[in-house]
Amino acid sequence: MQVAMVTGAGKGIGREIVRRLATEGMIVYMGARDIARVREQARDLPGEVRPLRLDVTEQEQIEAAAARVTDECGRLDVLVNNAGVMLEWQHTATEVPMELVRRTYEVNVLGAVAVTQAFVPLLRRARPGRVVNVSSPLGSLSLLSDFGTLIAQRSHLAYGSSKAALNAVTLLYAKALVGDGILVNAANPGLVATDLNGGNGGLSVEQGAEVPVRLALLGEDGFTGRFVGDWRRGTPVEEPEASPDALVPW
Ligand SMILES: NC(=O)c1ccc[n+]([C@@H]2O[C@H](COP(=O)([O-])OP(=O)(O)OC[C@H]3O[C@@H](n4cnc5c(N)ncnc54)[C@H](OP(=O)(O)O)[C@@H]3O)[C@@H](O)[C@H]2O)c1
Repeated sequence: MQVAMVTGAGKGIGREIVRRLATEGMIVYMGARDIARVREQARDLPGEVRPLRLDVTEQEQIEAAAARVTDECGRLDVLVNNAGVMLEWQHTATEVPMELVRRTYEVNVLGAVAVTQAFVPLLRRARPGRVVNVSSPLGSLSLLSDFGTLIAQRSHLAYGSSKAALNAVTLLYAKALVGDGILVNAANPGLVATDLNGGNGGLSVEQGAEVPVRLALLGEDGFTGRFVGDWRRGTPVEEPEASPDALVPW
């Protein structure tokens, strides 16, 4: 059986990714800060879902999680870095408090790096290992540099720049791990109605999970170093041809 780990999996897009990967027949570790909540949820999910206490800002918990997966499975086929925060709704780019900027980077950037580092030895034992970083077009430097786009008009300094950093991390890991046969890609779920945006998105969590799941299921002929998922999906400027397969410009 293939083995997957999803961070921030207690709700939203992450929980749906867990459900889909378990339905595919994988053993899925459901990483979440609130272990009691996910224990209850795991009972209602299909297949082999294993709740795992994981705050991605806590190095001890990350190491304990990697040790547990090593003991129980000896390998990890799929890592989905899904945990993310958006904390600055009330603030403009020039006024966002530094405390919120730091907390955003702790989860969205450093959390993904710390978890990936801890799980690389296990991903090396998979054929192929896959890492999916759940990113956002708000971190696309190409879209941000065109001031006319909807993306550039959003003014989320901490969130957008943290996702730009996550995109760079994705490319650097893709290059570093290509020799180990590990595929590292970024997924844009689209604008999905979840707690992160106060339910303000045109897509359901089922639709939002499509791209991350597709990247999680790549085979040995799969690609690496891509940012997948049309940036207009679920937004007010969505066009009929917006496809989950389209690439987001970095
Ligand atoms: N919704 C969208 O339109 C959209 C668009 C593009 C990208 N994304 C990305 O998609 C991912 C999932 O977001 P979502 O929309 O599903 O939002 P969500 O429902 O708020 O889920 C975010 C998840 O991250 C978890 N999390 C936060 N801090 C954490 C930490 N320190 N350690 C571990 N987990 C932590 C949350 O856990 P708790 O319940 O414990 O807080 C929650 O499970 C995020 O990376 C987000 O940036 C979302």
